[in-house]
Amino acid sequence: MNVSIKTADEIVKMREAGKQAARVLEMITPHVQAGVSTGELDRLCHDFIVNELGSVPAPLNYHGFPKSICTSINHVVCHGIPDDAKKLKKGDVMNIDITVKTADGYHGDTSKMFIIGESIQGERLARITQECLYKSIAEVKPGVRLSQLARVIQQHAEANGYSVVRDFCGHGIGAVFHEEPQVLHYDGYAPEADIALEEGMCFTIEPMINVGDHRTKVLRDNWTAVTKDKSLSAQWEHTLLVTATGVEVLTVRDEEDLSFLSN
Ligand code: MF3
Ligand code: CO
Ligand code: CO
Repeated sequence: MNVSIKTADEIVKMREAGKQAARVLEMITPHVQAGVSTGELDRLCHDFIVNELGSVPAPLNYHGFPKSICTSINHVVCHGIPDDAKKLKKGDVMNIDITVKTADGYHGDTSKMFIIGESIQGERLARITQECLYKSIAEVKPGVRLSQLARVIQQHAEANGYSVVRDFCGHGIGAVFHEEPQVLHYDGYAPEADIALEEGMCFTIEPMINVGDHRTKVLRDNWTAVTKDKSLSAQWEHTLLVTATGVEVLTVRDEEDLSFLSN
């Protein structure tokens, strides 16, 4: 296991990357409405990232991914592909996942849920999933093991009757989009992967939580991951920096209240 520790100079670049990714989610939020296509949302984000931020949408052509953002609707767990024919409708719940690569070469990766109109089940799932993310972020500080983050996520999800997706995980991030370590969201670590956090590490936490069973499958497009039982799935993601005393959320948005973090 070779987990990179960011230098002071790299941390400045990671802060900028995180801020940019958060700004994309803020920019797109008012556009997420019934009737708009996910292809249109993809174009808006792509153009903003390239023209306003001077950066690159990291998903585009990443291992052949065809678009600039991921749009995952209802039973889609992650890696949904934006599509001009796919229009949002009332009652849909959707995750938009943004990864920006700055001109400096550093990545910021973040996602949030959107409820189109109203969905009682979707709103509860989205809220509990965000709580899973926040509870795990609150654990982050030097010396804490990755398995501790997984434990609080799994406990909160299962206490609310949901399941935690096992087939996808969070990840180290920096000059490389996905680097070590893998950040599992359920209690399933190989002991050697259960590293202790150190100041200067950057990684994502991005729990995917299902109303039904945890199992997923990938569709014939080789990207779109869905729940096997077609139950609703939600996800939230932040990019984090481990500080001397705790955590800095690099992708925080203005709308968020992170006052639960004591450091
Ligand atoms: N942003 C996703 C993550 O959180 C990865 C998307 S890879 C893509 O790690 F190719 F699907 F875009
Ligand atoms: Co990620
Ligand atoms: Co992401």
